[in-house]
Amino acid sequence: MTIPELNDVHPAWLPPEAFRAVGSRRTLVAGDGTLAETVRAEVAHACARYGGEPVASGAAHDLALTLSPDGDLGDEDFVLGRRDGVTTVRAGGQAGLLYGFFEVVRLGEAAFAADRAAVRHRPATRRRMLDHWDNIDVHPVMGQVERGYAGGSIFWRDGVAHDDLTRVRAYGRLLAASGVNAVAVNNVNVHATEARLLTDRLGEVAAIAAELRPYGIRVHLSVNFASPVALGGLPTADPLDAGVREWWARTTERVYATIPDFGGYVVKADSEGQPGPFAYGRSHADGANLLADALAPHGGVVHWRAFVYDHRQDWRDRSTDRARAAYDHFAPLDGRFRDNAILQVKYGPMDFQVREPVSPVIAAMPATRLAVEFQVTQEYTGQQRHVCYLGPLWSEVLGFRPWGEAGPAVADVAVRGGVVAVSNVGDDPYWTGHPLAQANLYAFGRLAWAPGLEPGAVLDEWIGLTFAGCADPERLRRTLREMMDGSWRTYERYTAPLGVGFMVRPGHHYGPDVDGYEYTPWGTYHFADRDGVGVDRTRSSGTGFTGQYPEPWSEVYESLDDCPDELLLFFHHVPYGHVLGDGTTVVQHIYDTHFAGAEEAARTRLLWEKLAGDGLVAPDLYARVRERLDEQVRSAGEWRDQLNTYFLRKSGVPDAHGRPIH
Ligand code: GCU
Repeated sequence: MTIPELNDVHPAWLPPEAFRAVGSRRTLVAGDGTLAETVRAEVAHACARYGGEPVASGAAHDLALTLSPDGDLGDEDFVLGRRDGVTTVRAGGQAGLLYGFFEVVRLGEAAFAADRAAVRHRPATRRRMLDHWDNIDVHPVMGQVERGYAGGSIFWRDGVAHDDLTRVRAYGRLLAASGVNAVAVNNVNVHATEARLLTDRLGEVAAIAAELRPYGIRVHLSVNFASPVALGGLPTADPLDAGVREWWARTTERVYATIPDFGGYVVKADSEGQPGPFAYGRSHADGANLLADALAPHGGVVHWRAFVYDHRQDWRDRSTDRARAAYDHFAPLDGRFRDNAILQVKYGPMDFQVREPVSPVIAAMPATRLAVEFQVTQEYTGQQRHVCYLGPLWSEVLGFRPWGEAGPAVADVAVRGGVVAVSNVGDDPYWTGHPLAQANLYAFGRLAWAPGLEPGAVLDEWIGLTFAGCADPERLRRTLREMMDGSWRTYERYTAPLGVGFMVRPGHHYGPDVDGYEYTPWGTYHFADRDGVGVDRTRSSGTGFTGQYPEPWSEVYESLDDCPDELLLFFHHVPYGHVLGDGTTVVQHIYDTHFAGAEEAARTRLLWEKLAGDGLVAPDLYARVRERLDEQVRSAGEWRDQLNTYFLRKSGVPDAHGRPIH
């Protein structure tokens, strides 16, 4: 086992400096197996640089990482403490040993300072997964990575898996240090070439799995539901057909013969043109269970996505509501999914918007294992050209209580199914295009592991690790916190107002286009006219979507008075003069927030500029962030002007402060 080292690629949150504290100590690693070997190699690697020493059992040491499988610790759990000058990590399994090691790295010198009471660490949920929307072939419209903003794929190039997969191993290492333990290596829109990863191209998947295995990460594959037809030459993919069931069983057996720790399948079915069980008059439970049954003998799971809606909607038809679709399709199927079928639900009812209510599906299927899906890749949140730290958004969603204050939170529901996100990584030297977007990848892993973590504290961790060894860490930390803490809300201010969503350029989804989707079949409308704006989703006069929530939210969202302002236009169509909680009207709020948001973007750039020349960050990183900030400031100004002008022209209501609107 060699620790991956890359020239020309930024080390993200694992620069050599981050290992100084561990690397300058005497460390004992006790335990056997692949991951224990990884920990041993990590310790040796750090010690070689910083003068510490890996020691054998019996020798004096400062840190002991010990595998002690019997006891009440799960495979990924560990207990960390310090007493009598020795820091100890006692792990329930090899994975726990690895996570315990990275926890010590995260703590740095603090791990070796004062005594600390033994604290047990365990992930909130078993599966913490990143989905890559990577294609093997470069897709004519979507490029190589669908909704990717960081270059090509780290897995695939020129129609095959990379022949040098060192970077994949380095990725696995970063993910392990953040808490992620599963990766799907191809796009949920499975095109012809990628479909074959399941069969004749399985060897490439096995090669990737071999690189990720030492870091405790299992590989999953997105599969095409029609594979029995497309790959197997069968006349049907009907989930109840005996031949089809047999085909999936045999195919899956071969997958496990090649990759014994294979994680399972991810499926996007009957969605945006992907094949699915509807073609055969079968339900999504039938479809999911077909694959679940094929995977069950091997311990695998199927992640079946709930992102199912009519993308050929008639915009004239006000009774169809895309927000309703997932619940309408899936809630009636509760209790009909196998135990190894996980329903993967986007956090909101629409599509990863900057602000959406939590999906009602999450509260509607108590007898089903649900995973919550986030989007680390910033499709709708600035495409890694804008600074937009998403930790606060995910934290808010995970902490949301669908049944009211006394009930469980979204994170509690996700315990049984897991937390999943679409990755933002590509073959860009900074991994994520925008160097500060690395924080989102890190925060996803940390919040998936411990949803209760405070997003600002996670940001501090990320800053501390990424810029370890910085000459003035406190100044850098303060600057980055100021730039990033509120960046999600800033982005919200200068884009679509009050939860209404979209207003982006159709297709690529970057930049403003208020009416871009208004008369399209995609089901994403704002209904602005001369009198008002917003979507009436009430039971009393609208689409009835509010009725998909349990109480209290069904009542809260239904009521114009109680509905939270930030979601007002998601749930209600209101006149421009409607007064919000802070006393401003809707249209004045639109003007105010758009001026403020664009100003905040400019201020963010100013904060960064103040770091210029003082050597706190590497010049190339400084320049890359600076170039992105220029684009953010330009784009935020464009959003401000288009939105303000649009609503001034629609409403005829002037800005109370007489600012320039065009
Ligand atoms: C969004 C995105 C698509 C993606 C889809 C999905 O609609 O724009 O590119 O395929 O989500 O989640 O499947």
